[in-house]
Amino acid sequence: MPWEYSDKVVQLFMDAVKGAAGTHMGEIEDPDGYGEHGSMVCGDTLRFTFRVEKHPTDPTRDIITQARYLTFGCTSAIASSEALCTLLEQERKTPIEALQVSNEDLVDFLGGLPEQKIHCSVMGAEALQSAVADWASKRGVDLAAIVPDKVHADEDEGRVVCKCYSVTEPYLRRKIRELGLRSIAEITHALKAGGGCTACHHEPGGLQDLLDEIWATSHETDDAGQATAAETHDTAGELSPFQLGRRIETVIDDSIRPMLREDNGDIELIDIKDNIVYCRLLEPPGGCPGGADRTRLIVERQLGEEVDDRIRVIAI
Ligand code: FES
Repeated sequence: MPWEYSDKVVQLFMDAVKGAAGTHMGEIEDPDGYGEHGSMVCGDTLRFTFRVEKHPTDPTRDIITQARYLTFGCTSAIASSEALCTLLEQERKTPIEALQVSNEDLVDFLGGLPEQKIHCSVMGAEALQSAVADWASKRGVDLAAIVPDKVHADEDEGRVVCKCYSVTEPYLRRKIRELGLRSIAEITHALKAGGGCTACHHEPGGLQDLLDEIWATSHETDDAGQATAAETHDTAGELSPFQLGRRIETVIDDSIRPMLREDNGDIELIDIKDNIVYCRLLEPPGGCPGGADRTRLIVERQLGEEVDDRIRVIAI
């Protein structure tokens, strides 16, 4: 089953890839604001540029007149970027006003995004912040004095929690609070962190520890992994082998296969024995080094989250 995109997402994506009039894919030469967010290493990345109509005396009253993006990403990343550029140009925002555009505004403009694609809208809002910081330094505007809660560049440096996606602890802390993320699955959907090998989920100082600390939750057990398993997916014992098989097939069809196909990969379910899932994984041509094992771990993580976290995946 493909992702369920709104009509607006489909229309924006189709118009953008055809280069229809009024779309924004591209790059402004010598822009007034330049920002990037994301990583090219097996993920999404967005480069965002804008031009302003300069106010003769007060740079804080500059108006964004033109916005463009380049993205290495999927349908949602392109549609989110189009939404961002359209909002800025249509509403003739100043760069400082533009900082108030949130990922929720982009999702609303798009008529919704699949939960697993929310990170595309977050990427747009972050690239915009980075571009506004660039504009501010060129125009001599002290952003920290005007909108201190929107200046994060230095604060986001720090200990890397998720090595697969190079996501730091300060960034995670900020986004968990800003976006109200309450579970590892929500973090992964919004930020991609935790979406690879899963090592950062329950290690000391990992995602679950950050969630627990930020939301002041506590677990009754002395093992974080066991506690989370009990909270979320203690289901295999309640399912018959037939039910377990059906559940796994459904998750593969509805969640995993569409996700892999977005990157020209695929999955074929071969067999299920107890909690071991045997499958054949088709890797996209020109995938990154270690891509096969990463894909296996992504499948295992998704089955863990949606079916039972004791499931192990073997690629054959
Ligand atoms: S270290 Fe976070 S998913 Fe691999």
